Amino acid sequence: MAMSREAFGSRLGFILAAAGSAIGLGNMWRFSYQASEGGGAAFVLLYIAMTLLLGIPLLLAEFSLGRSARLGPVGALRQIGGRHWSRLGYIFTAAGLLILAYYSVIAGWTLRYALESLTGQLPADAGAHFGAIAAGNSAVGYHLFFMLLTIGIVMAGVRAGIERASLLLMPMLFLILLGLAIWAATLPGATAGYLKYLQPNVEDFLNPDVWRAAAAQAFFSLSLGMGAMLTFASYLSRDVNAPQAGTLVALTDFSVAFIAGLVVFPVIFSFALQSAVGASTVGALFIALPTAFSAMGPVGQAVGTFFFVALAVGAITSAISLLEVVTIWLIDEWQMNRKPAAALAGLTITALGIWPALNTDALGLMDKIAGELLLVFGTLMLAILVGWKAKSEMQAELEHGASTFWAAQVPRILAVLRWFVPPVVLVVLVFSARETWQMMLDFFG
Ligand code: PHE
Repeated sequence: MAMSREAFGSRLGFILAAAGSAIGLGNMWRFSYQASEGGGAAFVLLYIAMTLLLGIPLLLAEFSLGRSARLGPVGALRQIGGRHWSRLGYIFTAAGLLILAYYSVIAGWTLRYALESLTGQLPADAGAHFGAIAAGNSAVGYHLFFMLLTIGIVMAGVRAGIERASLLLMPMLFLILLGLAIWAATLPGATAGYLKYLQPNVEDFLNPDVWRAAAAQAFFSLSLGMGAMLTFASYLSRDVNAPQAGTLVALTDFSVAFIAGLVVFPVIFSFALQSAVGASTVGALFIALPTAFSAMGPVGQAVGTFFFVALAVGAITSAISLLEVVTIWLIDEWQMNRKPAAALAGLTITALGIWPALNTDALGLMDKIAGELLLVFGTLMLAILVGWKAKSEMQAELEHGASTFWAAQVPRILAVLRWFVPPVVLVVLVFSARETWQMMLDFFG
C-alpha cells in the first residue's frame, strides 16, 4: 500500500478531473457514430435516459467504493467485497489496458488531423485520406507520441499533473465546442441535421440494439465499469458532497456530447456526407468533418484546427484516467513508485496498441470487447456489489459530506442501483455478448 497517498487539492479539481475522464473521444468520435448509426434521435433520447437512470447511480457506486477504500480497484474491491471480488479488479485493470491501447490510436489520428488542419494539409477527399492514414507506420508513430504525452502527465502525479491539466484544458474544450455549434447553426441545410438528431422515429425505440448501444455509450462516455472513477475517488476528501459532484459530472459529460452532436449533424447534412459516414463506422467523424472543413477554405482550416485540438485535449484527460487505473495497481499491489509504475504500464499499453494501429478492424473489435462488453459486465458487478453486498456501508459513505438535500437522495439512488440497474444491465449484457460474438466470428472467420 502506498504510504502517504496524494489527494486532490480542491473539490473543483476533482470534479474537473472526473469530468476530464468522462469527456473525451467518447463524446465526439464514439457518440456521433453511434448516434448516426443507431437510430439518430431515438438513440440520443435513450442515451439521456440511460445516463440519468443507470449512469449517475453507477458513477456514485464507483465514488463510494473508491473514497471509502482509498485504494485502486483491485485493493478497493478486495477490502470491500472480499478476496473473490478482487478478481473483478483485475478485469478492470485489463479493460483499462485494452481500452487505452486503441483509444490512443484514435487520439493519434486526432493529433495528426490537428497538425494537418493547422498547416492546411487536409486533402479535400477526406474519405481516401482517412483510408490512407488510419492504419500503418505513421498511425503507430502518432499513437506512440500520444502515449508518451499521457505517460509524462501520469508520472507527474495527481496534484501536479492530472489536476493542473484538467483545470486548464476542460473549460477550453467546452468553449471551443460551443463556438463550433454556433458556427454550425449558420450552415445552409443545417435543419435537416437537427431533425435527424432531435426528432425520433417510433420504430427505433422498438429496436433492442438501439437500447444496447445507448446503455453502452452511457457507460463508455462516463468512464464506468473499469474503475477509472473509483480510482479518482480514492484521492477524494471525505468532506466533498459526492452525490452532487457525480450528478454534475454526468450532466457536464452529457452536455458536451450533446453539443458535439449539434456540431456534427448539421455539418453532415449541410455537406451531404451521409454515405461517407455510413461507409466507415470507426472513421465517421474523421471522414465527415475534414470534408466539411476543407470545403470551407481558410475558415475551415481555422475551425478544423480548433476542433481537433479540442478533441486531442479531451482525449488526453481521458487517457490519463485509463493509464492511472493500471498504474495504481502497480503502486498499490506491487509497491512500485509512481514514475516507474506509470512508465511500465504505459509502455506495455503502447506495445499493445501497435495491433489496432496497424489494423482498423482490430481497433473496432477491441472497442467492442473492451469498450463495450467488459464495461457492461463491470457495471453489472458494481451494481451488485454496491446495491446488495455493501449497501449500508456505501450508503453511509455517500451520505458523508453530502448536504441535506443530497443525503436525502442517497437511499433512492441506492434503491435504483439495487432493483433497477442489475436487470436492465443484464439484458444489455446478453445483447452485447451476442454482438461481440458475431463480430469475432466475422473478424477471425
Ligand atoms: N469516457 C472516456 C471518453 O468518453 C473514455 C473512457 C472510458 C475513459 C473508460 C476511461 C474509462 O472518451
